[in-house]
Amino acid sequence: MSTQKWTPQSWRNHPILQVPDYPDNASVAAVETTLAAKPPLVFAGEVQKLRSQLGKVAMGEGFLLQGGDCAESFAEFSADMIRDSFKVFLQMAVVLTFGASLPIVKVGRVAGQFAKPRSSSFETIGGIELPSYRGDMVNAIGFTEGERIPDPERLLRVYEQSVSTLNLLRAFAQGGMADLQKVHGWTTDYVSDQVQATRFQEIASRIDECMSFMEACGVTAQTSQSLAETDFYTSHESLLLNYEEALTRRDTITDEQGWFTTSAHMVWIGDRTRQLDGAHVEYMRGISNPIGLKCGPSLETDDLLRLIDRLNPDNIPGRLTLIARMGADNVHAKLPTLLKAVQGHGAHVVWCCDPMHGNTVKASSGYKTRRVDDIMREVEGFFDAHDEVGTYPGGVHFEMTGQNVTECVGGVVEVTEERLGDRYHTHCDPRLNASQSLELAFLIADLLKRRRDMSSGLRKVS
Ligand code: TRP
Ligand code: MN
Repeated sequence: MSTQKWTPQSWRNHPILQVPDYPDNASVAAVETTLAAKPPLVFAGEVQKLRSQLGKVAMGEGFLLQGGDCAESFAEFSADMIRDSFKVFLQMAVVLTFGASLPIVKVGRVAGQFAKPRSSSFETIGGIELPSYRGDMVNAIGFTEGERIPDPERLLRVYEQSVSTLNLLRAFAQGGMADLQKVHGWTTDYVSDQVQATRFQEIASRIDECMSFMEACGVTAQTSQSLAETDFYTSHESLLLNYEEALTRRDTITDEQGWFTTSAHMVWIGDRTRQLDGAHVEYMRGISNPIGLKCGPSLETDDLLRLIDRLNPDNIPGRLTLIARMGADNVHAKLPTLLKAVQGHGAHVVWCCDPMHGNTVKASSGYKTRRVDDIMREVEGFFDAHDEVGTYPGGVHFEMTGQNVTECVGGVVEVTEERLGDRYHTHCDPRLNASQSLELAFLIADLLKRRRDMSSGLRKVS
């Protein structure tokens, strides 16, 4: 099947999972036509720039920071929320840039992350069975029959909300907020945890000192643009392929031939939709964007190698990011085998760690939660596995919010299971709050620093 010609529609001839059951196909087709006439969200030149930055990461010369909400929603959408999440993201990025002395490639799970794969098509509460909530891109979260009916008009609303979200993020990233001279201004009111707040202020003061020194040397934001702004890219799980198809465009400005999805810079295939001959793999093989592939504990080595060949036949570094989500208890047992196989295959990939999705548990109160300890343990296990095999731990993928939520348990200022109900706002999975996100960034910076010190020690010895 793979040898057949790819078109933006060819996924329609393949078996597909996780599609909404719309009551009326004619209105779906009408929405697709409307979307196909809309301007793209991103431009191919930016997408190529991200691919080449990820290519450097694949070679060990950078680190990918990818994160954001589990699922965006229509209700939780405001300039303040976007600003607060972006500030936390900037804080994490600068902690890593400073701590690891590596360029950090910044990719949000944002401006398109609205659809959710579900393990079951139906949900039963109190004896009543209704279709599952599949994200605001498909239906509504309320547990009534009407709200659970999939509505294709939601695709248009996702497009509009993504456009305005991306517009604000571009303004923040390039319009002055990301200026390294403003690093003290990135702290939000929500870093309740004094330990992280103090650690961050220390780094901010040291950056101030570096900036003053450079200014004295004649290097300022005016002479060197890269001090004043940052490249911030968007990504989401490419689940609803009719949305992606409508935004798939041939590039007319850069020289590169080919098709790009213009719904985001990067898109990924979920762990539930990665069947070799399935529709999602078919669609993704043909676009030129950098793509991700979620790798869960059930992924067999042979299947992974076949997916790599299908998705990146020319072995372009930066094209494919493998996002491992094994769970803290599985990572030691499962990951090294995959790392070795991919290394033996000679495939250039970015290995990224998603320490969130393999570590979701149910608290005794019934809330879905994740323990910060497990998240940290999986990140450490990920680094250990790479040390063991001699491959490069290239990035992390996490779910967070700039709001002061209590969704994950643990952290230095501990959110306890009893407190989960205080501010549990997520429409989907439990997210790290601002303090917990910073704590994670400090841990990763330390792990990267340790790696670098180890390898420079080795170089000195040899
Ligand atoms: N442009 C550089 C980068 O994006 C430096 C930089 C500017 C930066 N603002 C930043 C780094 C904010 C991290 C966070 O890496
Ligand atoms: Mn999630």
